[in-house]
Amino acid sequence: MRMRAAVLEEFGQPLVVQEIDLEEPKTGEVLVRLVACGVCHTDMYTASGVDPSGYAPTVLGHEGAGVVEAVGEGVDSLRVGDHVVTLFSPQCRECEHCLSPRTNICLAIRDQQGKGYLPDGTTRLSRDGEPIRHFMGTSTFAEYTVMPAIALAKVSPEAPLDRACLFACGLSTGLGAAMYTAKVEAGTTCVVFGAGMVGLGAVAGCRLQGADRIVCVDLSQERLQMARHQGATDVMIGGADTVEAILEMTGGFGADHTIEATGLVGVMRQAVESARMGWGLATMCGVAGKGETLDVIPRLLITGRRVAGSSFGGVKGRDQVPQLVQRYLDGDIDVDAFLSHRLTLDEVNQGFDLMHAQDGIRSVIEFA
Ligand SMILES: NC(=O)c1ccc[n+]([C@@H]2O[C@H](COP(=O)([O-])OP(=O)(O)OC[C@H]3O[C@@H](n4cnc5c(N)ncnc54)[C@H](O)[C@@H]3O)[C@@H](O)[C@H]2O)c1
Ligand SMILES: [Zn+2]
Ligand SMILES: [Zn+2]
Repeated sequence: MRMRAAVLEEFGQPLVVQEIDLEEPKTGEVLVRLVACGVCHTDMYTASGVDPSGYAPTVLGHEGAGVVEAVGEGVDSLRVGDHVVTLFSPQCRECEHCLSPRTNICLAIRDQQGKGYLPDGTTRLSRDGEPIRHFMGTSTFAEYTVMPAIALAKVSPEAPLDRACLFACGLSTGLGAAMYTAKVEAGTTCVVFGAGMVGLGAVAGCRLQGADRIVCVDLSQERLQMARHQGATDVMIGGADTVEAILEMTGGFGADHTIEATGLVGVMRQAVESARMGWGLATMCGVAGKGETLDVIPRLLITGRRVAGSSFGGVKGRDQVPQLVQRYLDGDIDVDAFLSHRLTLDEVNQGFDLMHAQDGIRSVIEFA
């Protein structure tokens, strides 16, 4: 079929919206009609050419939500008409990692996905007979996508898809970092560094876990206001003396949990240093620049602080994204507050401009 998609033709150049071809789903695959798609940093990062594993041409986009239009052979988990959220982090439910409760990092299709192919090593996207590679296994800056069934979470049809799409990446990452990676306990003190989509999600996650005190650190007063709305009990502007300020607030000990959502290694270090002696857990969500390293004084670890990393918030996508969406429908999470701008597919580059200007939390593309 023919469809419109935003193609990254050349690094550092605007995406070009155009008609390309999409083949029908093969065994284990599903055709999804996209209804909405968020614009995330990873799309911009890859478009810029800074990502060493990036390639072009490709169709970017990974925060998608839509409706199943057709299923390939052997797909019994989804039916035509189901509402789905796309998962750049799939869940096959069969590999060693999926069978373990300790991680959400599925091993089933990692290698091919990383290279831009569907699990059978080919692409469904093409132009004039030349294959175009997929991006993050999702390629959702397009009217339609073909994806493996194991990379689609079936969500309640009651959830508006322009909000459900935020659960495809940033929001679930933040919520999950608090709920599934850190497993924040009721009554604890938590510090969240960063109040973008991920940090605000983490604030909400700490609140849902019953944290007593939630401190949010950011550079923007406006974003800190949003953090208060999501459940932060204290807010502060970040800087060189942040660790000192947190130690002071916590009787000199530090916080039970710190969650980093900035991507800055200097802030990651602050997250480690403001975790509590004895059992403080510092959870890292941010993606640092290539080659950057995190400096930690080993004595901080010997005295009981721990460091964890969190990919997609530790969320097992097919099982837990529907649960998180349900909590939104139950009124536990205010997702509307994150949806700042609505764009058409043709305005996709504007989504990058808005993100660059830190204008709003998320821009969402809506497909007519
Ligand atoms: N682990 C994952 O699976 C995953 C998924 C999505 C995003 N991410 C990463 O998470 C990070 C956050 O994503 P986002 O969409 O929320 O980004 P964002 O840019 O919207 O938010 C980052 C926030 O950090 C704040 N900040 C900057 N310097 C700071 C400082 N010194 N102290 C405190 N706050 C500071 C900024 O003001 C901003 O509000 C990024 O690195 C992103 O790549 C990771
Ligand atoms: Zn993302
Ligand atoms: Zn798996």
